[in-house]
Amino acid sequence: MLLVTLLAVVAVAGATPAVPRAATAMYNPDLFQGDIKGIAGQEPGKERAAILGEQYLWPGGVVPYVFGNSVNSYERSLIISAMDDFHARTCIRFVERTSQSNYIEIVSNDSGCWSYVGTIGGKQRVSLDSNGCMYKGTVIHELMHAIGFYHEHCRNDRDSYVTIHYENVQAGMESQFNKDTYWQYVGEGYNYESIMHYGTYAFSVQWGVAKTIVPTDPNVILTEAYDKLQMAQSDANQINNLYRNQCSF
Ligand SMILES: *[C@@H]1O[C@H](CO)[C@@H](O)[C@H](O)[C@H]1NC(C)=O
Ligand SMILES: [Zn+2]
Repeated sequence: MLLVTLLAVVAVAGATPAVPRAATAMYNPDLFQGDIKGIAGQEPGKERAAILGEQYLWPGGVVPYVFGNSVNSYERSLIISAMDDFHARTCIRFVERTSQSNYIEIVSNDSGCWSYVGTIGGKQRVSLDSNGCMYKGTVIHELMHAIGFYHEHCRNDRDSYVTIHYENVQAGMESQFNKDTYWQYVGEGYNYESIMHYGTYAFSVQWGVAKTIVPTDPNVILTEAYDKLQMAQSDANQINNLYRNQCSF
């Protein structure tokens, strides 16, 4: 039985490149746009590039956080290095929670990488599964959701920049590529380099073979969030613009 299973796994692996765990952890079939657990004050489908409504932003740009027990010291230092990208380039400040009632709880024992978009009130989780999410780029990506951002490739101007090849998308996953119906422009145009952009095989029927997101510009190669080491400058600019009334610069 074990041998048969092993042979089957080898046969499949030989036929198509394996999907990296870092990708399956982020491209969750049951979550909105792959890694969004919920949206502050909104239903999925009413999403925007950046959340609209000051009440869904973190007051003063300050995001209190706690770590769940499962997050080990290596993971904590990785997550803090991701927070440092925000601290160095934006007005957002992640602070260890003292008694604030609204805060994020970062856990590593849940399944997949996901976050809510914006502040939903009370404790809200950011899931960074030890198995597949412990990459600085993935952490930055999920934290950017938590402060109020959606995905770059779902902006409603994306058709000028990428083509979605629905024939290569897994059956039932087409809605993962729905465009934002209306969204808040926060000062930057479409950027292939955004850390909020998915890679070229997101929800593909055949990883490494069948492309789902293809840049209009043939010279562009999309990079997965987990392969990035920092947010794009346009991401930082948009954060500062979204929080312009919250932060004291
Ligand atoms: C995961 O960690 C959180 C935070 O420490 C805890 O509340 C939860 O019970 C844990 N879940 C499991 C399945 O161990
Ligand atoms: Zn995401």
